[in-house]
Amino acid sequence: TTKAEGFVKVTNPIPDAKRIDLAECPKNLGQPIKVEGWIKHVRRQGKNLIFIDIRRRMETLQCVITGQLAKTEEASQLTRECCVRLFGTLHEEKRAPGEVEMSVDFIEIVGPSPVDLEDKLNRDSNPEQRMNQRHLDLRSDDMGCLFSLRAKMMAGFRTFFQQRGFAEVTPPTIVKNSCEGGSKMFPVKYYEEEAFLTESSQLYLETMLATLDSVYCVLPSYRAEKSLTRRHLAEYTHMEVEMAFYDFEDLLKFLEDMLVFVTNYCATEAKVELAKLNPGFKPLTGSFRRMSYAEQIQWLKDYNKQHPEDPFINAETGKEYEYGDDVPEKPERCMVDTIGEPILLHSFPKELKAFYMKPSATNPRETESVDVLIPTVGEIVGASTRIDDYQELMDRYKELGMDTESYYWYNDLRKYGSCPHAGFGLGVERLLCWIGHRDHIRDACMFPRYMGRITP
Ligand code: 4AD
Repeated sequence: TTKAEGFVKVTNPIPDAKRIDLAECPKNLGQPIKVEGWIKHVRRQGKNLIFIDIRRRMETLQCVITGQLAKTEEASQLTRECCVRLFGTLHEEKRAPGEVEMSVDFIEIVGPSPVDLEDKLNRDSNPEQRMNQRHLDLRSDDMGCLFSLRAKMMAGFRTFFQQRGFAEVTPPTIVKNSCEGGSKMFPVKYYEEEAFLTESSQLYLETMLATLDSVYCVLPSYRAEKSLTRRHLAEYTHMEVEMAFYDFEDLLKFLEDMLVFVTNYCATEAKVELAKLNPGFKPLTGSFRRMSYAEQIQWLKDYNKQHPEDPFINAETGKEYEYGDDVPEKPERCMVDTIGEPILLHSFPKELKAFYMKPSATNPRETESVDVLIPTVGEIVGASTRIDDYQELMDRYKELGMDTESYYWYNDLRKYGSCPHAGFGLGVERLLCWIGHRDHIRDACMFPRYMGRITP
């Protein structure tokens, strides 16, 4: 040990220490080890004692630095988010996270972290400041748990699809055609042509049915939403599925099976994350409550009778909701929150839904469509069977005044070997909000895009 520039210098007594993962700490008590990680907190007590918590892969290790080592230049550089390599030994310590503590013998600063970080982001930062510093905000324990949960949830979906023999495909996201009506599409200049960012990959998924039978994709969809709500993003992760020879009943059953599987997968594979984010989480079971659109309208009328002081009123008509009205987010969420369980809301009138939806066999004014609603979030899935008859599709385009030419490739699917089929789209961030118990969809998206936000 020598003194230079006011700092004590220490040489590494255990340069060959074994590198371990933080999760392996309890198995390596008493052994010389080295670990790497980012500093979560620093606590200095006097000149000779420093406690730091380091983080890596959601694990935390408490480390203690004493004596001469606490007076080194490296020790003076220990700050929040500094990346370090620490050499030392582990011992039991009941008061430390995981009941293990490291006595540090040598410090290597891998990536220093200047103290101005505190001005950018701290415990008291408001949501807007957090979004401006999202690249740093993502390092919090909370975000670590949430994005780990997301990764496991997606693994759950892929496991489920693999078990059923579904193939993952990647349709283009720069497109010419609208899928959901197009009013909310972002235009892009595509060389000299006008194109759009896709609002759904569904039409392209349908092209793969005759090739692979049942397909899915996990891709961004874009919606130029003008309203800033708790559940709308301008770019979201859309998990879409298309299945040949599925009728409406098959589709409803599939949605139930999938959501039961994935929520149970999360409950077993993401125990640690859920314990922190949503300890009361109960995976879904059995079959879900079914409710028709007509019954929803009746529910809202009954609600108004019971709450004359604060009824739900259609802003456009100034009256209560009637059959044929588009029910917006607020009354819909109130309904599912009151009922308190997932709902398969089905049989929407055709004027409220997209061109490709098959009319119901019993009531041609309605479609074989279904939204999955869940408490606290609302709609997470939009699904339907698709028109598979060529002439019927042509008639529908005409009814809606749509151009048929640019859909020539989609129309050919009905011309050459059409088959009955069904599919759906699920908003990944919305489902994550529910499982991870988040209030706002912005939290559930890595770098959320919404009106007014394009950075970072
Ligand atoms: O109901 P949507 O618009 O359905 C479709 O796009 C169909 N073509 C899907 C299909 O059948 N392949 O959107 C499906 C889901 C919604 O239920 C919702 O969960 C999510 O996508 N979603 C959004 N999520 C976040 N931000 C937005 N702006 C969203 N718009 C839709």
